[in-house]
Amino acid sequence: MTAVQRLRGTADWLPQDLPRLRRAEQAGLAVARAFGYGEIATPVIEPTELFTRGVGDTTDIVTHQMYTFTDLGGRSVSLRPEGTAAVLRAFAESSLRQAPRPVRLAYAGPMFRHDRPGRGRFRQFHQLGVEAIGEADPELDAEVIAVAWDWLRRLGIEGTTLALNSIGDATCRPLFRAALLAHLAPHRDRLAPLDRERLGRNPLRLLDSKDASLRAILASGPQIAAFLCPACRDALARVEAGLRAYGIPYQVEPQLVRGLDYYVRTTFEVWHQSLEGAQNALLGGGRYDGLLATLGFPDAPGVGFAAGLERIALLTGMPPADGSGTVAVCSIGAAAVAAAIRLGTALRGRGLVVVADVGPRSARAKLRGADGQGAAVACLLGDDELRDATVTVRDLRAQRQERVAVADAPDRVAATLAAGAAAG
Ligand code: HAM
Repeated sequence: MTAVQRLRGTADWLPQDLPRLRRAEQAGLAVARAFGYGEIATPVIEPTELFTRGVGDTTDIVTHQMYTFTDLGGRSVSLRPEGTAAVLRAFAESSLRQAPRPVRLAYAGPMFRHDRPGRGRFRQFHQLGVEAIGEADPELDAEVIAVAWDWLRRLGIEGTTLALNSIGDATCRPLFRAALLAHLAPHRDRLAPLDRERLGRNPLRLLDSKDASLRAILASGPQIAAFLCPACRDALARVEAGLRAYGIPYQVEPQLVRGLDYYVRTTFEVWHQSLEGAQNALLGGGRYDGLLATLGFPDAPGVGFAAGLERIALLTGMPPADGSGTVAVCSIGAAAVAAAIRLGTALRGRGLVVVADVGPRSARAKLRGADGQGAAVACLLGDDELRDATVTVRDLRAQRQERVAVADAPDRVAATLAAGAAAG
């Protein structure tokens, strides 16, 4: 019989690796909190329409990457491929819509896209994001970028580039789109089949193509900056002024369009030198005024970003060990099992990490096991210890041991751990 294996593009995070992901997440939520963003959690499963309308029914995400199925009630539901549409839905359906604006929200959790798996690209991955809802000021765009930037700095991630662009609004983007179409039309037959399809559906998507010949065609074509209306141009200038005030270096990238339909004006991504280009951004975001109306709610402007936590974690080391160390509590013989369990409970009550070894193995085997698990201290309880209500406390690093009264054991264990941690 063949073994049941994990699905392609999904990952198991083992105890030795998960702290990196968790630390990245905790640091991000802490930075967001420092900017006044409160954490929100929304369901992993949503009505499919939330994304077909929100993300856009011609985007790659919706046409090719969604995990969509009909539930037992006959309703089309999807695993969320991103968080923004869901957070806006939650905002509009709750008391948050009456809260003072902007409403600042942060979130972290798993997302699902049936993407081509690769380095830093998964089908189930984790995002951390923030959304600032209810205010159109471009200074807020700079603020959400500052949250992202501070977070990367806090994690010690260097070698990043902030790419910034404006993709215009309903006034000016149609003019750019028309000019782009006119420029690309004569080259239609030379495009790859998928790009030809994109040309029909959403020609702006072609702008961040990695295809060298298409890039050459685009380089001689119209540039969005030349088409921005005065309001969009002013907004971009204010985002740039905000970034300068925060001391964040950026580079304007006229080709940066992003793969979701809801953006207006500001779009941005942070790239890392070890990841190749825009398709492998550490994070991306932008302004999405009008998205709430697209979802059928009273409209309000908004801006935010989301980052791929796996990609961030790849660039960070393991968090430093907390130095407390593990205690192994070992019974020697059946009579000591209950006393060992009680001692373990008392030690955990002191905040220590305790693994209990109350099986029938020999003392030698248990000490070897404790060593193998990286325990710093072992507590041994056998017939002798039971007789005079003592515990043998063994310092596994210094290879020293002593018998102490049961009542004194927690203090002695804590002191031994502290001495070991101080000695490094
Ligand atoms: P996105 O660019 O589609 O934007 O995704 C944001 C980040 O999620 C990417 O930069 C990348 O780090 C990570 N990511 C995306 N797909 C994968 C994958 N298959 N495997 C691993 N990581 C991945 C959004 O999702 C928007 N909701 C961002 C946003 C928030 N815009 C405004 N507010």
